[in-house]
Amino acid sequence: MTVSLEQLRRCHVAVDLGAARTRVFVKGAGLVVDEPSVTAVNTRTGALIAVGTFAEQMTGRTPDYIRVARPVSGGTVIDIEMAQRMLRHLLGEKLRRQLRRKPRLRAAACTPHDSDPLAQRAATETLMGLGACRVELVDTLIAAAVGCGLPVEQPTASMIMVCGAATTQIAVLSLGATVTAVRIPIGGEAIDHAVIQHLRHQHELMVPSQSVRPLQLALNDNGLTPQGPESTEIHGRDVTTGRARSVLVDTAAVRDAIHTPLTAVLDGIGRVLRDCPPDLVADLAERGVTMVGGSARLPGLDQLLRNYTGMPVHIAERPDVCAILGLGTMLEGQIQPMVLDPLAE
Ligand SMILES: Nc1ncnc2c1ncn2[C@@H]1O[C@H](COP(=O)(O)OP(=O)(O)OP(=O)(O)O)[C@@H](O)[C@H]1O
Ligand SMILES: [Mg+2]
Repeated sequence: MTVSLEQLRRCHVAVDLGAARTRVFVKGAGLVVDEPSVTAVNTRTGALIAVGTFAEQMTGRTPDYIRVARPVSGGTVIDIEMAQRMLRHLLGEKLRRQLRRKPRLRAAACTPHDSDPLAQRAATETLMGLGACRVELVDTLIAAAVGCGLPVEQPTASMIMVCGAATTQIAVLSLGATVTAVRIPIGGEAIDHAVIQHLRHQHELMVPSQSVRPLQLALNDNGLTPQGPESTEIHGRDVTTGRARSVLVDTAAVRDAIHTPLTAVLDGIGRVLRDCPPDLVADLAERGVTMVGGSARLPGLDQLLRNYTGMPVHIAERPDVCAILGLGTMLEGQIQPMVLDPLAE
């Protein structure tokens, strides 16, 4: 990705199209959209019925002729037309009119680290369909590091872990560029899925993905570390009879179920540290890892990382919006020129 700060400063709008949430930052107005990346469509007429939070609430509760769709999956726009319709609705008429007034609208978008050219093209085309004549792509890792205030432009190492819904990205940054980085296709969705599968196999209980959160929280303050309550009551539907049923779920077993997908994430951290030059690892031992992204809020994930790496681990102040706020900071020009310019080859 070759983008300079100067090019970003000329952009009017920044977009982070995530698998779970879509966020939009408009220069001068700040963060104007933070909604689930979900649409509900009437399959008979093709009309869009709902977008964002309302569409997400419809998941699993719709009649046959309404289809709930997610135009972004695995960090990639998989349905460009639907993503454009979703963005148009989320922006609203007033903001769209404001953006249309710009003679040459320029947009910036976050793309996952190491995303392939097709994924980059899909993000660019989505925004071009909304009227942008030029789209700058910025690595999510850099945007998120700027957004949580890491001194990325300094010649010291910073380690960041972006815990999204579909992917987890981990990097060591120094002098405005990534030194080593990995992207693992495991995120909040995979963790929720592991819990759902556990309940299905061990308790023959089907629960909607929204019900998983209370169970994660019930892992208590100590989260993934083994001192929580012994069991938690969960309501769902019996797999065979279809009737409503509640079961007492053993918290330790849920913890184990969650650990399975997290092993891949821990392996990723190990790989980044192994590939990192020793001088930078010494910096990291002191400065630690900063966690951002919605799944950074998973209770106990920080403690798990602390135990695994032996390094200090911090969760950013507003972890879910770090990437879009970082991109916004670059658009507003409130950042040292050294950052990102090394990327402009
Ligand atoms: N308090 C919480 N506890 C556990 N998980 C949470 C919490 N809040 C949000 N999440 C999870 O965070 C994820 C959303 O994070 P985020 O908004 O960073 O994703 P995204 O940017 O849309 O995804 P990606 O970057 O992978 O495309 C969801 O999977 C959600 O389940
Ligand atoms: Mg994201």
